[in-house]
Amino acid sequence: MGHRYTKVTPITDDGVYDKHLSISHQPGTNRAVQHLHPCDETPVRAERGGGDRRGVCGGEELEEKGGGGEERGDRELKEASRVQEKRKRGKWWRRLISILTPAKKPLPESPSCQQCNEGEQMKVAWARKSSDDYIFSHYTIGDKLGKGGFGVVYEGKRLEDGLKVAVKYVTKGQDTECISIPDHPNPLPKEIALTILANKGPSDPHIIKLLDWQDHEDHYVLILECPSPCENLEEFLYHRGGTLDENTTRHIMEQAIHAADLCCQRGVFHRDVKLENLLINKETSEVKLIDFGCADILKKSSYKTYDGTDAYAPPEYKLKGKYYGKPATVFSLGMVMFALLCGHFPTHYDIFQLKYKRYTYIQPSRSKDCCGLLRELLNPHYSERISLSQILSHNWFKVYI
Ligand SMILES: Nc1ncnc2c1ncn2[C@@H]1O[C@H](COP(=O)(O)OP(=O)(O)O)[C@@H](O)[C@H]1O
Ligand SMILES: [Mg+2]
Repeated sequence: MGHRYTKVTPITDDGVYDKHLSISHQPGTNRAVQHLHPCDETPVRAERGGGDRRGVCGGEELEEKGGGGEERGDRELKEASRVQEKRKRGKWWRRLISILTPAKKPLPESPSCQQCNEGEQMKVAWARKSSDDYIFSHYTIGDKLGKGGFGVVYEGKRLEDGLKVAVKYVTKGQDTECISIPDHPNPLPKEIALTILANKGPSDPHIIKLLDWQDHEDHYVLILECPSPCENLEEFLYHRGGTLDENTTRHIMEQAIHAADLCCQRGVFHRDVKLENLLINKETSEVKLIDFGCADILKKSSYKTYDGTDAYAPPEYKLKGKYYGKPATVFSLGMVMFALLCGHFPTHYDIFQLKYKRYTYIQPSRSKDCCGLLRELLNPHYSERISLSQILSHNWFKVYI
């Protein structure tokens, strides 16, 4: 499988929303922007101890209030003792809570130095675990569900009602972009912003829901719905022996295509539709599109840098260095469908055979309609590729069992 690039093209001229660089915060202020409510509400600044602006780690620094000399010294002294008092009360209160509530499962231990990045993330999480406004204090953290380019995803439980959730912790890098979206006063990391936008409108079962989130200076956290029991399509395929039959593939593809199309209708270009980013519920076979970490605002003009997974990159990007959102989405859906049916990604030679309708070369047992759709999805010429909105009208989907 390919890897993910980290560079993102800034949204320019025809992007719908303002472009912002990563939020640049002043040292000594609480940088958390949190959201503990339905995901399309306005986030509020996370505040500790009744709204004091304090240092990020442990609330050690005092509020800076201007003024000078003795008066200021006095004020600081009073403030210091007030903070001390509050901290003592906090500790007492926390001790009581820790006695009364069942022990939370601790965050996983920092792994070996081969996984320093992940270890660092968890150390930060651990250090802030005791803070009541930190998002982790509302959830217990369980086993690791997965790990991608930047994020680590853990199974979790919402303390309030025991709901099973997925907790995604993402370390911010230099390339982490923030954008502004309607109804949110502060720019948000793109992944959060685009997950919110993809969920705007009537709830859709095929797009993962964002239940909660929090943004910090060096990382952000997403609390996502967690279908159960589920696995991603790569795992599902592996457990099914490496290939799927046409009916199973059709059922999965219908849902994946619907999700990708709906994202585009909502102005979101997912850009990383792939096996690992599609979850399937093993009992109901319901499929959900996850991971908006490579997503961008859908625009009409071309994209000139690719932020996604190499193996799924459209040929027009490899040949000409540019591509369009919807045709690229169609190509990635073709890669998913081919992988599900054949157990590997198509080679150039496979795509060549499809082009000339030598279908038996691809898979002798697959129907003509099935290979015909693969041919349309994987057309190397993006302008001749089937359009995203037409895919579900293809003959292959007109099957009545
Ligand atoms: N909401 C979720 N429910 C269950 N498993 C999930 C969920 N989100 C992610 N995962 C698992 O974690 C893996 C990595 O998550 P993903 O969001 O794709 O992270 P990355 O951005 O690092 O690729 C997925 O392939 C999937 O197996
Ligand atoms: Mg992923």
